[in-house]
Amino acid sequence: MSDQRRPRVLVTRRIPEAGLAIVRQAAEVDLWEGELPPPRDELLRRVAGMDGLLALLTDRVDDELLDAAGTGLRVVSNFAVGVDNIDLAACARRGIPVGNTPGVLTEATADIAFALLMAAARRLPEGHDFVREDRWTTWGPLLLLGKDVAGATLGIVGFGRIGQAMARRARGFGMRVLYHSRHRASPEAEAATGAEMVPFETLLASSDFVSIHTDLNPSTRGLFGREAFARMKPGAILVNTSRGPVVDQVALHDALTSGSLFAAALDVTDPEPLRADHPLVGLPNCLIVPHIASATERTRDAMATKAANNLVAGVRGQPLPDPVPLPAAG
Ligand code: GLV
Repeated sequence: MSDQRRPRVLVTRRIPEAGLAIVRQAAEVDLWEGELPPPRDELLRRVAGMDGLLALLTDRVDDELLDAAGTGLRVVSNFAVGVDNIDLAACARRGIPVGNTPGVLTEATADIAFALLMAAARRLPEGHDFVREDRWTTWGPLLLLGKDVAGATLGIVGFGRIGQAMARRARGFGMRVLYHSRHRASPEAEAATGAEMVPFETLLASSDFVSIHTDLNPSTRGLFGREAFARMKPGAILVNTSRGPVVDQVALHDALTSGSLFAAALDVTDPEPLRADHPLVGLPNCLIVPHIASATERTRDAMATKAANNLVAGVRGQPLPDPVPLPAAG
């Protein structure tokens, strides 16, 4: 941007006003108003000549899109903490910084993960359907028996901010907490959460509940497949609030129908959206919600503010407040 014109940015969906107001102050905004993501050809057309792009996790940012944007693109700001929708190497090759929204969605996401854990353990969706369908005839000694949470062991896979927030909740509910992660947490984090690092296989074999909090990368794609399910404790419960492709859904379906797993509770699936006729959706012991972990008013305002601040810094050529580490450009 050599001249004094206002930067031009593309925002690929209506985000909370808290963020849009910041962007409008700093730039001319092309806002995609559709309820669904912009179709690919529309996205490629609109991004052409932009100085900045504020993208959602539903937009694929890759070589094709960056080429369509042209050489003026100075920043990609993701309205999410996960960045698996973005080809980071492609951004690095072009020297384009990428921003995300860490921190502000930690508690909301851990809340949903724990809510899913509780709901699956105590069969809340089945109980709700039972009442709605007028099948409730009496108090029953054997009616809708679930799993105890207090005293159970929770295994957390991926022990970053959200995994640790999940551990704090679990501790409050009297659970024993194990974790597996690429890096060992600090002694302070271990002390605050009471969590113990163990090998992945030990976590699977020892946990009554397993909650996934890793990012999606080549080593975590399909991590929960037949082998992992075979290693899990019989009757365990799986919770996933990370990314759908970390779980092999065919293997999960088999584990849920054979009874080797008691239940699963998913905020994320592969693909998204998952259609209502998908085999997992029909299972009584599979609770699925539509990727809403960060969906609270305050959290989405905070995400919008972060995403906007990253975008504005980027178009001004300033360091992003929340930069995503990029691979070395080769
Ligand atoms: C939501 O899934 C996010 O990555 O922010």
